[in-house]
Amino acid sequence: MAKTFKNFIAGAWVAPSTGEYYENRNPADWRDLIGRFPSSGKRDVARAVRSAARGFEAWRRVPVPQRGDVLRRIGDLLVRDKEDIARSMTREMGKVLAEARGDVQEGIDTAYYAAGEGRRRMGYTVPSELRNKFAMTLRRPIGVAGIITPFNFPMAIPTWKIFPALLCGNAVVFKPSVDVPHTGTRLVEILLEAGVPPEAVQLVHGRGSSVGDAIVAHPQVPLISYTGSTEVGSRLGETCGRMHKRLSLEMGGKNAMIVMDDADLDLALEGVLWGAFGTTGQRCTATSRLVLHRKIHDRFLRRLADRVEKLRLGDGLLPATDVGPMINEAALRNTMRYVAIATDEGDELVTGGKRARRGKLAHGWFHQPTVFAGVKPKSRLEQEEVFGPVLAVIRVGSLDEAIRVNNDVRYGLSSALYTNDLRSAYQAIEDLDAGITYVNAPTIGAEAHLPFGGVKETGNGHREGGWQVYDFFSETKVAYIDCSGVLQRAQIDTYDV
Ligand code: UN1
Repeated sequence: MAKTFKNFIAGAWVAPSTGEYYENRNPADWRDLIGRFPSSGKRDVARAVRSAARGFEAWRRVPVPQRGDVLRRIGDLLVRDKEDIARSMTREMGKVLAEARGDVQEGIDTAYYAAGEGRRRMGYTVPSELRNKFAMTLRRPIGVAGIITPFNFPMAIPTWKIFPALLCGNAVVFKPSVDVPHTGTRLVEILLEAGVPPEAVQLVHGRGSSVGDAIVAHPQVPLISYTGSTEVGSRLGETCGRMHKRLSLEMGGKNAMIVMDDADLDLALEGVLWGAFGTTGQRCTATSRLVLHRKIHDRFLRRLADRVEKLRLGDGLLPATDVGPMINEAALRNTMRYVAIATDEGDELVTGGKRARRGKLAHGWFHQPTVFAGVKPKSRLEQEEVFGPVLAVIRVGSLDEAIRVNNDVRYGLSSALYTNDLRSAYQAIEDLDAGITYVNAPTIGAEAHLPFGGVKETGNGHREGGWQVYDFFSETKVAYIDCSGVLQRAQIDTYDV
């Protein structure tokens, strides 16, 4: 009998008020039931927020370095459980084990970075224009943070949001994706074991349309951090705009890798395989367009096709597997839909293009790694995010043209250029409209201690990761201390004419 899991609300593991549950199954083999998880409702969110508001009042008063100590213990516990969490993540989400380990490691890095930040939470001390007066800034926590996360990085993305939120002194109401509730549960167990006060963290499982929307619309949740689709992000933006909430959005991408004629083609080949088919293409940072200089186009494409055909699909827990399943049936169907769209548009199918269901793959959501060539700028496959193992190859005649192609989409998360020419590299960094540009590395592989995020419809100006996210999760307070003992009027007493 598979286990029935609970929410964590008001300091206790509790059943949902709805009494309803859903099944969470292994995407590599749907006969494998991981557990039943709560389909919670508005009442659960309301209880969680009430409790988190209490948790906030206590947690905000804990000195920041001590909050940092808790974050360090969280990092230690993630190290202890890394292998175990990675294995259960692969079973739940499908990504190959090496990537699942990397996903947990990203959480570990984020925890230790946050711990260090606890002794660094900086303000400024600046001179005052008046005598015997201090002027300074400090950062204050904001309140209850609503954290809504996707399936593709079941550990890393929640930690990017929850760790800085907690370090800054906020309380957290966390809704993991319905596809990866088990990893979300493991994370909350670790937070509690490390000493996060029980009311400072709340876990509410369920759908975005019920639990997610209720968190976003709750008047006592002043800040929201969301990673997911641009469509949902726009909707959340409307609610948050109306309610004057602070909102950080991390959404779609249509990332391109440009390979110039002077590039190291062996390197670029390894890069595109990893960028396009790592995590089965289910990354916001996935390489979904490959922009090839015409002088190397045919050669490179032949080698690429050869290598893609050799990629082995399978259960991510098996050492021989290169590419795991898609997360669920809807994701698989969406990828198949884009294959049909590309075929209708007249794109040339180089390899793949089909659902894979032979032999051991019969009970999973597998899709062949797929490459289309001759893809026209402005076509749907070239413009729209697939979030699956489909790569669109576009041929160009110059770097200027490549940059134009790169920039002519609604998104702008990650980008990559392979070249050995310093001037081309410089131009790409200057001119590619994206939050991240890699030179001689694929579009994936962001590190936890640097800001992460994109331009245009990928985001709304905020960044996760690195030092910048700490500004999102805290508010600036300015303090003036006048030690002069007399009324000093700024702008007036020092400038009397
Ligand atoms: C995402 O795709 O949603 O850079 C996040 C990377 C990872 C994070 C990706 N470190 O690919």
